[in-house]
Amino acid sequence: MFRIAVLVSGNGSNLQAIIDAKKEGYLNVKIASVIADRDCFALQRAKDNGISTYLLSKKDPNFQNYLYNILTKNADLVVCAGFLSIIEKKIIDRFRNKIINIHPALLPSFGGKGMYGEKVHRKVLEYGVKISGCTVHFIDENVDCGPIIFQYALPVLDDDDVNSLSQRILVFEHQLIVEAIKLISLNKIKVEGRKVTILS
Ligand code: GAR
Repeated sequence: MFRIAVLVSGNGSNLQAIIDAKKEGYLNVKIASVIADRDCFALQRAKDNGISTYLLSKKDPNFQNYLYNILTKNADLVVCAGFLSIIEKKIIDRFRNKIINIHPALLPSFGGKGMYGEKVHRKVLEYGVKISGCTVHFIDENVDCGPIIFQYALPVLDDDDVNSLSQRILVFEHQLIVEAIKLISLNKIKVEGRKVTILS
């Protein structure tokens, strides 16, 4: 069975969406491991569902080596679901077009180093853009820059705050990440340079 590793750092609502989609039979994949770079609620979600977990310390000089070793043993696809560490080049080279990330804005806007979670929504609101959304993309050596698989746009409302905007966007993050995993697991995604197409 197609094996995925899910990398997490926080609440794990995207991980939960993947777990639920598997339970419902929508995803026919094995969640082989959930790997965290800090203690977080996502690890509990994984444990509650009998998934192997790994807690790595970013401060450990071997952090990237441990990550590399776990991934090469048990992942056909690596899913960054709110993972806040930068993945080193050796791993990206080994998993070229096999690492995906969910970002809570419409890339290439409001992305890059240090742009994650609530910070993204705060910047979106400060800038005053009228549309935001989420992006699922492959990871390459530049932060938030790899080929885009899916995007979903929705309006920023006059009375939105960070919380309301993030909650409305999360609903669509959950759908996009599950859909991307499904299509990749079925070998229905073609990548040519930056261009990603869905095969019928
Ligand atoms: C999500 O909104 C995800 O898009 C974001 O962190 C949140 C994690 O939520 N990721 C980034 O900002 C990465 N640049 P979750 O832990 O509930 O899935």
